Amino acid sequence: MLECLTVFLGFISVLLFCAFCSRRRKDGEPPLIKGWIPFVGKALEFRKNSQQFLSQLQQEHGDIFTVLIAGRYITFIMNPFLYPSVIKHGKQLDFHKFSDSAASRTFGYPPVQSSLFPGMSDSIQRSYTLLQGSALDLLTFSMMGNLQQVLRCRFLSSEESGSDGHWQEAELYEFCKCVMFQATFNTLYGHSANLCLDQLREDIEKFDGIFPLLMARVPIALLGKTKEIREKLIRFFYPQRMAEWRAPCQFIQTRMDLFQQYDTLQDRDKAAHHFAMLWAAVGNTIPAAFWCLYHLISCPEALEAVRAEIINVVGEKNMKLIFEEDITITRQQLEQMVNLESSINESFRLSSVSMNIRIVQEDFCLRLDAQNSINLRKDDIVALYPQSTHLDPEIYDQPQRFQFDRFVEDGREKTDFYKCGQKVRYYRMPFGSGATQCPGRFFAMNELKQFVCAALLMCEMQLPENQQEAMLDNSRAGLGIMPPVNPITFKYRTKKTGANMKREQ
Ligand code: HEM
Repeated sequence: MLECLTVFLGFISVLLFCAFCSRRRKDGEPPLIKGWIPFVGKALEFRKNSQQFLSQLQQEHGDIFTVLIAGRYITFIMNPFLYPSVIKHGKQLDFHKFSDSAASRTFGYPPVQSSLFPGMSDSIQRSYTLLQGSALDLLTFSMMGNLQQVLRCRFLSSEESGSDGHWQEAELYEFCKCVMFQATFNTLYGHSANLCLDQLREDIEKFDGIFPLLMARVPIALLGKTKEIREKLIRFFYPQRMAEWRAPCQFIQTRMDLFQQYDTLQDRDKAAHHFAMLWAAVGNTIPAAFWCLYHLISCPEALEAVRAEIINVVGEKNMKLIFEEDITITRQQLEQMVNLESSINESFRLSSVSMNIRIVQEDFCLRLDAQNSINLRKDDIVALYPQSTHLDPEIYDQPQRFQFDRFVEDGREKTDFYKCGQKVRYYRMPFGSGATQCPGRFFAMNELKQFVCAALLMCEMQLPENQQEAMLDNSRAGLGIMPPVNPITFKYRTKKTGANMKREQ
């Protein structure tokens, strides 16, 4: 009994000590919300439902406030009109140091910005141009071929016998994962007969499940088998193995050549870089593919409009050929699909929780606009939280509703969105902002379009009636596109024509 009392009193004294020593708000700083648990602060409320939690704080404290979350003081800027000054202040509000240290800790390679690797960080940034411009034409061509191969294989496999035109059932997220993972892997890293991609995908999924804890700086040693899984994933990408893969894309080949130039980089570290890139390439694209397909097949009007647009651009002839040979959809043709692009952007709007993070490099006063300036402290985090803009009823009418043509006006992309009569520049930000935007965004958008095109050209899809709606997994607050939390069954029937079927037999 006495022992219990001693432990209890000890615990209370630690709390009181921490509370006494903990930070206090100074003049000119935003309102400070610390919670009552030292260090942890408001982490639990934030993790449970970040959007709800932050909206409530916004109502109580206004558009700018600082919250203690898992040992870090994060200043949230909730008003999109104040974003530009944060995005502009690249020198005092740094992204790269933060992302380098978070990525190296999470994926297990030494920090790129270390003096051991002179010039490597800049070369990596330059390599990102190979995901854009003319290099994107080749990637798009290759992705289209890989997608068709994977989908054909899946739809026409004997086990599923989808070729006889009868309705089949499958789980939608599983379907998106299998197809997008394999097609993206083959497009970026190449092909080899000896690769077991299903196992790789399962291991990445396990790792991804723990990813939020690694990002929250929980030591990997405390996370069960995570370290073992990570080492297995890294081993997959050892240079000797990658050298045997046929036709990796120019982007990955350039990274292989670049890492080869550094004797200070071990083979294991090179492999860890390749593993990290695969994670970046599929981690958000797969849930985004799910939400887009899910919303389209949930809404007959949207499905019809998008299907008609695809057939119009691709042509009926190609549609009929797709089970016999690879068809091409060029980058320019993808650009013409405005309803499809709007549907993908609308899915991003509803499922993206990417938080834009900057680390304060020195104590300074940040001028946000004519009325607002705030004092910031070195090493604090400044965060933009675009989900609050994505769901703002003043910007988007009925913000919780999927409206496939929300981003179309007069047959073109709509870019005019207003709040209180003023045009909002940053109204949709799934890929981050400013100079640090995701370098894979053009490739990702094309992949998503191609996936929907190929799937809709190959088969009809429906959701069975009386199924619970798909819900977002809120536990990944701040980290990209939220996956669905519940399984969703869908029905599909291939559109293989009688002529194609006879030729197969
Ligand atoms: C729907 C798909 C995707 C989404 C929503 C997405 C989102 C993001 C976001 C929010 C960031 C951080 C940017 C910032 O905070 O300013 C990021 C970074 C990054 N993304 Fe993507 N991404 C996607 C697909 C891809 C693909 C397909 C690739 C590569 C093929 C890729 C490669 C990267 C890389 C390398 C970075 C780090 C850049 C750096 O540190 O400078 N992403 N992405």
